[in-house]
Amino acid sequence: MESVLVTGANRGIGLEIVRRLAELPRPPRYVFATYRDKKSIRVLRSISDKSKKMQIKLIQMDVTEKRSVEKARKEIEAAVGDGGLNLLINNAGTAKWQYIPQTTKMNLQHHYETNTVGAVTVLQEMLPLLEKSASVKSAAEKSRMSVSRGAVVNISDRHGSIAELTDVHMENWRGLMGYRSSKAALNMAMRIYALWVKDKGVLVVNICPGWVRTDMGLKDADLHVSESVSDLLRLFPLLDDSHHGTFIDRKGDSIPY
Ligand SMILES: NC(=O)c1ccc[n+]([C@@H]2O[C@H](COP(=O)([O-])OP(=O)(O)OC[C@H]3O[C@@H](n4cnc5c(N)ncnc54)[C@H](OP(=O)(O)O)[C@@H]3O)[C@@H](O)[C@H]2O)c1
Repeated sequence: MESVLVTGANRGIGLEIVRRLAELPRPPRYVFATYRDKKSIRVLRSISDKSKKMQIKLIQMDVTEKRSVEKARKEIEAAVGDGGLNLLINNAGTAKWQYIPQTTKMNLQHHYETNTVGAVTVLQEMLPLLEKSASVKSAAEKSRMSVSRGAVVNISDRHGSIAELTDVHMENWRGLMGYRSSKAALNMAMRIYALWVKDKGVLVVNICPGWVRTDMGLKDADLHVSESVSDLLRLFPLLDDSHHGTFIDRKGDSIPY
C-alpha cells in the first residue's frame, strides 16, 4: 500500500492502526490521520514525529461537516497526485447510551449523522481518489480487488447485525438502539456502494473489530486495542473480491447482516 486514510485517528482503534502501520517493515508511504480537536492529538503527533519511513499527515476533519471532508480530500489529493488513494479506513464513530423508550430524536440523529451519513460522505468524497488508485494498477493486479489497489474498509459493529439480535443482553440493546441502527444503516449503505463500484475495482468491506477496550468499548471489553488491531492488520492483505460487499469479523468470518 502506498496511501491510507484513517478517520478518527486521535484515539482508540484509529490511533492504534496508525501506530501499527508506522511499525511495519514496509509501511505505506503516506498515512492521512484525521482528528477533530487539536487538543486531542498529543499522542498522534508524537507517533507522527517519530515515524521515519512513513509520512503521517495529520488532517483536521469532522465527518459530519461536508466542507471539512472536502478540505481533507483536497489535502490528500495534493499529496498523492495521480496515484490516488489506496485504502480508506472509515473508523470514526460514536456511541451514546440512551435507553428506549426515552431515546430522543437528537440521540438517533447524532448516531446516524456520524456513523452512517458521515462514513458515506467520506466515501463519496474520496471515491474519485480510490478509483484513480484502482485504475492505475497493473493489468495483473486488475484482476483482483485488494487494499493495495483501491478499497474502503468500514469499521462497523456486529451489534448492527439485524439477524443476530435476540432478547438476551437487554440492557445493551435498550441502551444502544441509536448506535446499533446507525451501524445497520451503514452496512446497507456500503453494500449498495459495493454494487455501484464493483466494476471500478474498488473493494468495499464492513468489518467488526470485536469488543475493544477504548473510550467507546469501556474497560470490561474482551480485547486490548492492540489485539484487535493486530487481527485487522493481518486480515487487510487477505481481503479480495470474495469479501466485496460482505460483513465480517476481524478474523474474516462472515457476520449475517
Ligand atoms: N470499541 C469497541 O468495542 C468497538 C466495537 C465495535 C465497533 N467499534 C467501532 O470502531 C470504531 C472506533 O471506535 P473506538 O472504540 O476506537 O472509539 P473511540 O475510542 O470512542 O474513538 C472514536 C473516534 O472517532 C472520532 N469521531 C467521533 N465523531 C467524529 C466525527 N463527527 N468526525 C470525525 N471523527 C469523529 C473520535 O474523535 P474525537 O476524539 O474528536 O471525539 C475518535 O477519534 C467506531 O466506528 C466504533 O463504532 C468499536
